Amino acid sequence: MNILLLGSGGREHALSWNISKSEKCDQLFIAPGNAGTEKLGSNVNLAINDFEAIDQFCTAQKIDMIVVGPEDPLVNGIVDFFENKDIKVVGPAKLAAQLEGSKAFAKDFMARHNIPTAVYKEFTSETLAEGLKYLDQKDGPYVLKADGLAAGKGVIILQEKEEAKVALEKMLNGQFGAASEKVVVEDFLDGIEFSVFVLTDGVSYKILPEAKDYKKIGEGDKGLNTGGMGAISPVPFVDEALWKKVEERIIKPTIAGINTDKLNYKGFVFIGLINVGGEPLVIEYNCRMGDPETEVVIPRMQNDLLDLFESLFDGSLSEKEIYTKSSFATTVMLVSGGYPEAYEKGKEITGIDRVETSMVFYAGAKKDASSKLVTSGGRVLAVTTLGSSMKEALQTSYQNIEKIKFEKMNYRKDIGFDL
Ligand code: AMP
Ligand code: GLY
Repeated sequence: MNILLLGSGGREHALSWNISKSEKCDQLFIAPGNAGTEKLGSNVNLAINDFEAIDQFCTAQKIDMIVVGPEDPLVNGIVDFFENKDIKVVGPAKLAAQLEGSKAFAKDFMARHNIPTAVYKEFTSETLAEGLKYLDQKDGPYVLKADGLAAGKGVIILQEKEEAKVALEKMLNGQFGAASEKVVVEDFLDGIEFSVFVLTDGVSYKILPEAKDYKKIGEGDKGLNTGGMGAISPVPFVDEALWKKVEERIIKPTIAGINTDKLNYKGFVFIGLINVGGEPLVIEYNCRMGDPETEVVIPRMQNDLLDLFESLFDGSLSEKEIYTKSSFATTVMLVSGGYPEAYEKGKEITGIDRVETSMVFYAGAKKDASSKLVTSGGRVLAVTTLGSSMKEALQTSYQNIEKIKFEKMNYRKDIGFDL
């Protein structure tokens, strides 16, 4: 098969790493890709939301399958666009992608299918007064979520009622543009988060290794939210009893819900969960793999991803088995100084060639005009290690990080600290 993978982050480097090794892979193209993916396939300069241009490229290169890394093209309907075009697109159709694209859609789905999640109500500018009254009746902390995609910034958690009221009004007055025309206000859940990943054809499903990511920029989970500063898999506190609840109460009803609602879904469901005293509840759905979770989940998997992806289209997913290494995987993100706020790009990266016992997945790293490897984003490299324990894997990652240098490089030295 000829494959086109969309995206340019560490997630796409990790996906390419598996796909490029597949016996089923003839040619692998990555659009736009990065300096890591270009070692495993051919990077192509296509905009991931320009479906017409992607279509032309697919025809010219005889592409058989498109694998979509990030959520944007899915929420914009890439699956629907290619519906009658004899190209398999891995991911949910536009309506199904609303599980990520709209918090209200996702909450509604969970309510309809009895999937445990925080109690909530949704408001618009017309019902602002009701929203303020709702906050009055509640104790803090207050969780306010912009309905639409807001580049990971649309969730605001506040301790004080008055602050929450001001924030609700601001959000409904266009703080996040169209994304916050509707706001979901939900109860705060106090627990520890983890993520499960499911591959589904809309009827059957297979569970991939779980992971936990570290979203805050600062050690001890302090400071601003980022796309993710590191991840580990497996998650030590997810024992058999918790897994059973996750599968029975969350995964099964989610897939059954997709089926009864007739949602066209052939791809990954990423379920963000929170463990509240042994009871799992859903924090959010994403319609794609996580980043940097992919950088620990994929290295632990022994399956050929293309074999699994093909099975989504020929009805054979239920016959597949997921083979997982028993090793622990950890990844530590090296980021540009200043991220997630303003940061500089174009800093030379050195030392990756001296890393032997970890895998380095490229995120915001590209070759400049003189073929030097330079930083090109906030999150630059993900250093992943497999080890016989989480501690051992992390130790190796941190030793290898010492060898890598770029100006103002920053990373969290406490990944896994809470486990
Ligand atoms: P979301 O985009 O819905 O995943 O929210 C972003 C982050 O906000 C989550 O990863 C949680 O850390 C936090 N969060 C979201 N909803 C809640 C909630 N109901 N209670 C506590 N924390 C939450
Ligand atoms: N690491 C969180 C995400 O990919 O959404």
